[in-house]
Amino acid sequence: MLDIKKVQNVDLDYLTHVIESGKYDEEIFKIADETRKKYVGEEVHLRAIIEFSNVCTQHCLYCGLRADNKNLQRYRMSPEEIIERARLIAKLGIKTIVLQSGEDPYYTTEIISHLITEIKKLDVAITLSIGEREFEEYRIWKELGADRYLMRHETASPELYAKLHPGDSFENRKAHLYELKRLGYETGAGFMVGLPGQTAYDLALDLAFLKELDADMIGIGPFIPNPDTPLKDAKGGDLQTTLRMIALARIVVPTANIPATTALGSINPLGRQYGLKYGANVIMPNLTPNPYRPNYSLYPGKICLFERDTACVECTKQMIRSVGLVVGEGYGHRKKIEMNE
Ligand code: SAM
Ligand code: SF4
Ligand code: FES
Repeated sequence: MLDIKKVQNVDLDYLTHVIESGKYDEEIFKIADETRKKYVGEEVHLRAIIEFSNVCTQHCLYCGLRADNKNLQRYRMSPEEIIERARLIAKLGIKTIVLQSGEDPYYTTEIISHLITEIKKLDVAITLSIGEREFEEYRIWKELGADRYLMRHETASPELYAKLHPGDSFENRKAHLYELKRLGYETGAGFMVGLPGQTAYDLALDLAFLKELDADMIGIGPFIPNPDTPLKDAKGGDLQTTLRMIALARIVVPTANIPATTALGSINPLGRQYGLKYGANVIMPNLTPNPYRPNYSLYPGKICLFERDTACVECTKQMIRSVGLVVGEGYGHRKKIEMNE
């Protein structure tokens, strides 16, 4: 039987055993579903994502947007185009807009500030996901009304982090996440499952870090090898381990908002549905306009690329209902409930 207390207390040796053996999955999935129900309820929140630029100055070994990838048609949406999209999303009744991009300095402090000011007029929550920026910029954007910041920690193994991010360190990523928290952002961390060289112990470290940070949002997806990156020959993450990690994250940080990620849906047609059954309570319909959408190409096989521009909205709502859950209608901020155990 699973020792739930040891899981909740992130006992690293025990978690490593649980993650490695896979033999507790049935119990983990059941407890994660109950925990989701108890702490965040039946509502699944929609977060409309606009991937507004695929230009990136970074060199993350796993990612198709890395600066060195020449096999990618780069694009930047103009501020007007982005705001226009945001208006459409607000009209569709979605209450969170995620602005995501590569690390693209073209979008200066002022441009991002302008986007926040205009989009906040639409009565929506704003999540920024534009990589590491200056601490002063985080402060300015928070004051202008940005609500959340999504920046996965990617892996909590300092050695693996350094290998995957030339010139960067896990210490530095941590410092950014703690600063975002300090400024009052709902802060999103998270990691990939199946990175080359990643061990069960590393995954246990990921859970411990999420708890230590008290992550408000937790994005977990399989690593999917991209043929245009140095990790093209790697194996990648599998469905079962990814689901196990999502479920464990729910148990470890019960009130976090946890998406059933696009990458999960990309390795299995029912991946996101399983995610919602085993602890997730958020889904991120893709609202990136065409013709840009297919060029936000992190990994091969990404879903939703060739659908009608707004098709993901109805599709995700349908998906939520199909697993017996309810489409959230509010902003879907993190629930602040006292933990009573
Ligand atoms: N540039 C920002 C950043 O890095 O935080 C936001 C965009 S980045 C493309 C969003 C996420 O995509 C990353 O945090 C990473 O976990 C994920 N990602 C990148 N390449 C991937 C791959 N090959 N397989 C699965 N997920 C990937
Ligand atoms: Fe750039 Fe983000 Fe991709 Fe890294 S993960 S290469 S920062 S888009
Ligand atoms: Fe995009 Fe189904 S969620 S088409």
